[in-house]
Amino acid sequence: MTNEKAVELGRRVLTPNYKQQPIALVRGEGTRVWDADGRRYLDMLAGIATCALGHCHPAVLAAAQAQLHRIWHASNGVYTLPSLQLAEALVRRSFAKRVFFCNSGAEANEAALKLARRFHFANGAPERVEVVCANGSFHGRTLGALAATGQPKYQQGIGPLPPAFVHVPFGDLAPLRAAVGPKTAAVLLEIIQGEGGVRVAPPGYIAGVRRLCDERGALWIADEVQTGMGRTGTLWAHEQEGVTPDIMTVAKALANGLPIGAMLATEKAGVALTPGTHASTFGGNPVTCAAAIAVLETIDREGLLPACREAGEHLKARLIDLKERVGGRIADVRGRGLLVGVELTSEAAPVIARCRELGLIVNLASEKVIRFAPALLVTRAEIDEAASILARALEG
Ligand SMILES: Cc1ncc(COP(=O)(O)O)c(C=O)c1O
Repeated sequence: MTNEKAVELGRRVLTPNYKQQPIALVRGEGTRVWDADGRRYLDMLAGIATCALGHCHPAVLAAAQAQLHRIWHASNGVYTLPSLQLAEALVRRSFAKRVFFCNSGAEANEAALKLARRFHFANGAPERVEVVCANGSFHGRTLGALAATGQPKYQQGIGPLPPAFVHVPFGDLAPLRAAVGPKTAAVLLEIIQGEGGVRVAPPGYIAGVRRLCDERGALWIADEVQTGMGRTGTLWAHEQEGVTPDIMTVAKALANGLPIGAMLATEKAGVALTPGTHASTFGGNPVTCAAAIAVLETIDREGLLPACREAGEHLKARLIDLKERVGGRIADVRGRGLLVGVELTSEAAPVIARCRELGLIVNLASEKVIRFAPALLVTRAEIDEAASILARALEG
């Protein structure tokens, strides 16, 4: 099937909820992907911040394949070994003591929202049901996660949404102080707002959120769906803030692009999810869990956290250099590790389309922002190649 045929078929049989680029990808290897016409691209988006070890990484492939030969699925009425081993691996590498598995970021956030309310219910404060979130945030498309999302454009025509979600400006502690009170179950925040335009929390903000939650008896939920698994140069972005959350949600890169989500919690919070209070048929799937274990081991073995920090510095330096050269076209370059946004002074969509025509895949993170989220093992030469394609795309 050619790109043209794939586009024609997609327009006919899929719901039109995505704005797809007019290509179908058929193969990927490392940082490169190929479309149905045989054209090769540099993928500086790594799926969509999912394939953090690059496409078809051999260690992940081998782990998933081996598990496919053992057992694919079992009911959560029994244990399976990969989910136990993955939970243990996550606990070993985080603040958490308890893990719940699901299949996506939105589902992980739903689990976190339910756990926050269950926690207060179990601890004699059933009136604590409100969740305070940030303007510009993105937490997923299910109704609860969508109610938490601070971007009205995603909510239009979909309400009524679940009540008791309060939104405050991101990065400012004063309005948060006014919003968190005796009815607050939790504060739910990203450390870097990825979909909201790669907006990094200002220094001290996250530590202030932690302190405020402790003072007022609310839980802090860190949505690390996009920032987790090494994307910002540490395994979890909150490590760079010097504080730990009560609950953290993870998905995207956890199994390098295979569908999985996880909610991690402290012992005190986690045990509130008592038998029967939550479940997921595919949660803890043996194949995706086996893949995720391989991802964590590969990050350790190949030193991908320092590699990410170094590559991130190089990417930012190249983009800042470009900003200076293209006089006025780029308003800002920001981000951490390998989650970097380039804010243009005009709409970003046409530039992204031009990049794709020139062989580079990046995407839109709010109207004027181009997002770079390449594999953690991206090379300096590939970063240079991406920067020079973006330079050409900006020329027209
Ligand atoms: C921070 C954050 N939370 C939640 C989600 C939703 O994840 P999913 O699309 O897997 O439901 C996303 C997806 O982009 C995200 O960036």
